[in-house]
Order: sequence, then structure tokens, then C-alpha cells
Amino acid sequence: MTYDEARSLFPVLERFAYLNAGSLGPLMRSTLDAMEARSRFDQEQGRGGHAWFESVVSLRARVREQIASVIGATAEQLALTSSTTDGCNIAVAGLGLGSGDDVVTTDSEHPGLLLPLHVSGAQVRVAEVAGHPTAEALERIVSCVGPRTRVLALSHVLWTTGQVMPVHELKRETGLPLLVDGAQSVGAIPVDVGELDYYTVSSQKWLCGPEPLGALYVREPDSLRIAFPTYFAQTSIERDGSFVPKDGAARFDSGWLAPPMLAGLEAALDEAPDWRYERAAEVTAYCRKALGAEYEVIGEPGQGTLVSWVPRADPAESARELYERGVVVRDVPGTGWLRASCGWWTNEDDIDRLVARLAT
Ligand SMILES: Cc1ncc(COP(=O)(O)O)c(C=O)c1O
Repeated sequence: MTYDEARSLFPVLERFAYLNAGSLGPLMRSTLDAMEARSRFDQEQGRGGHAWFESVVSLRARVREQIASVIGATAEQLALTSSTTDGCNIAVAGLGLGSGDDVVTTDSEHPGLLLPLHVSGAQVRVAEVAGHPTAEALERIVSCVGPRTRVLALSHVLWTTGQVMPVHELKRETGLPLLVDGAQSVGAIPVDVGELDYYTVSSQKWLCGPEPLGALYVREPDSLRIAFPTYFAQTSIERDGSFVPKDGAARFDSGWLAPPMLAGLEAALDEAPDWRYERAAEVTAYCRKALGAEYEVIGEPGQGTLVSWVPRADPAESARELYERGVVVRDVPGTGWLRASCGWWTNEDDIDRLVARLAT
């Protein structure tokens, strides 16, 4: 597949310079078709029939396998969830943190991680990484670790600046459990979970899948408590609700996930080209350079696929106006920045349109 062929898969690119996969990725025609076909199949084949259920079970197994392979995990280590936030809640609640515990995070986290940390009852220690060179992040985060620290919880790629946090180095240096928010990394940059303990996935961003859908990687499923059991948690259940957990991370699966959404994600994962990470990095570099000629661009090159910069006008207002002019970006609340997301489907024309529309 060439770059031009890849672009032609996405209907939205016919109208917009679509630069907001960090919120919601674009959907391909094949994804839309798979969702529609599955919806029709569901209605025509009698939802709830035996064969129909079997088809859902195998669809879930295939999607689990596919997502696991994107992040270097096994299907046994992967729970299907409805979002990254869902995965953060499952992991944080499962750790059973309390007032005697500390968790260490950064000052650039999304509410999807930060809120679960706050309600856990643990003291949340916040490492300052925003506005500092990425090379300092390891030391800054490690310096917040103390004797009561139970877990380090942070994003792999910061949603504000696109900086890549040293998650593997943090694991090696501290030996502590690491919960990684993968919302801005999975599908955008190469990810290998390696020795990390918990890693979340969002379908609807860089994987170009529908929402609500996601996943949670759990390195050792037996070691995490099931805090939010759903039907999928058990293989057998007693009258009093005691149960035998399912093998592997499937015991953490969120409630029922709509089969058309799963079918859409399956199609999106099938279609993603081998060159996706290299191309996304290349267009991100182009974007940084093009914006950098006119504006202050935040952070350093060579990080994730998000580019934030300081616009001349109010960011929220600028984002609204850009949308009217066929360019989709977002503002980053509380920062004065706009943010562009560059994916494997983005091309240099999209970036040139962004720069041109900003100037008018
Ligand atoms: C870093 C980060 N974490 C979590 C989320 C929330 O993701 P989800 O909607 O899958 O819960 C976002 C969404 O923007 C994000 O950027």
C-alpha cells in the first residue's frame, strides 16, 4: 500500500485535514463496512442464538489476539475493555491502594488516569515533567519514589506535548509495579510492553477503531484482584456469588462489548500498514518544522506523534475557526496551546493546509 492509497481509505480525508487522532482517529471505509456488515449479521442471524454467541466468542478471541500482538503481549495477558479510562480503573482498584500508600505520577496526565488514582485513597505524588527536557523525566519521577510507593502510574506518551516517558527505564530503575496509560502510544509509536505490569489501550485513537473499546494488558493476571467483576470474570459461580475466575486477563474483561464495534476494530487492525510508525514519525517531524517556522512549538523533536504549539489567538476559538476552514485540531485545556495529531494517514498537504489556514 502506498501513502496515497492509504489516504484514500479514509472518507474524512476527502474533506478535512484531519489532525485529531489524539482525541478520535479517522475510520477507514473497510472499518465502516465491517461495522455495518456485523450489525446486519447480528439482526439477520438472531442475536442470542447459540451459533451467534459462538461467533461473538471467536470475534472477541481474534480481537484480543490482534491487540496483544500490537503491544508485544500474549492474548492471555489482555482484557477487553471499553476504554483506557476503564483499564486504569480496573488496574488501580485491583491494586487495593489505601491511605497508607503513595502512587507516583506526572504533572501531565489525563483525567482518565488521574481520577482513578485520586479516588484510590492513596497519596498521589506528582513529578514535574512538563516544560522540562524529556531526558530529565527519569530522574524527576524516580525522585518522587519513597518507601510507601506502591505503583508508578503515568502515560507512555504525554497527551499535552507528545513527549515519550521512559517507562521501561522506570521499571528497571525502581522495580516497582508500573501502570502505563497507552492512549497516545498504541498505534502511534512502536510499543513492546516487556516487563511493564499494566498497560492500557484505546481503540478509538491511533488504532483507528470505533469507540467505546479498548484493552488492558496485565503481565501477571493472577496477582491483580478483580475489583469490577463482570459476567466474563468467572467460569463458575455459587449461590452466594463466590466464583472461580476465568484463566488469564480475560477475567478483567469489561461488560458486554458491542460486536459491530469489535468487528470494526478487527478490520482496522487488519488494514494498518507495516510502515505506519515510520510514516507517522516522518510527518510529525514535517509538522514540527512547518509550525516551528512561524510559532513556538512545545517540547522536543523525535518524541510521539502529537505536536503542540502556541497560536496567536485564543486556542479554543482558533480550533473552532480551523474546523470551519476544513482543518481539525484541538486545544489543550489550561495551556494556551493547540495540538495536531499526525498519523500514518496524514500527509504534507494536510500540514500545509493547517499552516496556511492558521495564517488567515
Ligand atoms: C493520555 C490519555 N489518557 C486517557 C485518555 C482517555 O482515553 P479513553 O477515552 O480511551 O478512556 C486520553 C484521551 O484523550 C488520553 O489522551
